[in-house]
Amino acid sequence: MNIILLGPPGAGKGTQAQRLVDERGIKQLSTGDMLRAAVKAGTPIGLKAKAVMEAGELVSDEIVSGIIGDALDELSPDTGIIFDGYPRTAAQAESLDEILEARGRSLHHVIELEVNEDALVDRITGRFTCANCGEGYHDRYKLPAKEGVCDKCGSTEFKRRPDDNEETVRTRMAEYRAKTAPILPIYEARSIVSRVDGMASMDSVAGQIAAVLDA
Ligand code: AP5
Ligand code: ZN
Repeated sequence: MNIILLGPPGAGKGTQAQRLVDERGIKQLSTGDMLRAAVKAGTPIGLKAKAVMEAGELVSDEIVSGIIGDALDELSPDTGIIFDGYPRTAAQAESLDEILEARGRSLHHVIELEVNEDALVDRITGRFTCANCGEGYHDRYKLPAKEGVCDKCGSTEFKRRPDDNEETVRTRMAEYRAKTAPILPIYEARSIVSRVDGMASMDSVAGQIAAVLDA
């Protein structure tokens, strides 16, 4: 099963994708995570993407569609995929169709996380992750069970993203409204869009997504 998770910054795409990976063995392809890895490794793509990401703007369509095509080539044809943070523009949506078709795949669901943007700034600025395994946490909504120790791997190192400040978050949201939200009608025309209430608790959102996937 191939799924797109769509929603503005902080909507919970990464959180829900991680749960689907844990619970269903689907593979998560997050262009944000792949770009951050490229920045960290100092690859040519990382060098191009760094300043753009720190400003909260979108990296070029060619770069992100290129990394998605390459990532798909690494997967066996029967592995299900969750696209997290991709596509984000009409051109990327078009590329994704071509990328999937060329590999004999198709899209089964587009799940939109509906949220109140004002609450998202609070979610994003409180976010941190385990520096070792990447497990996501939040200062108020999801602290590790034992203070300062990752629930999943026991690491005591955590990190925050450089683009998780209020000003950059506002730019990321404006980019979402201007370039990403307008691609929904492409998928609505195919009757594969489902909306879930992203303001509910993490467990409730996961339940709503499961209901869509298991229907
Ligand atoms: P990317 O990494 O994709 O970031 P984003 O879209 O801004 O999304 P986030 O990761 O901020 O949010 P999320 O929805 O995953 O929320 P999360 O689950 O963490 O992109 C970063 C940058 O890379 C872009 O700005 C761009 O420059 C570039 N880029 C990436 N893809 C690109 C593309 N395709 N084209 C061009 N450029 C691209 O949740 C947030 C917090 O809230 C967490 O702390 C979590 O614990 C908490 N939380 C989650 N759900 C709930 C809940 N239900 N209740 C309470 N708290 C919750
Ligand atoms: Zn960890």
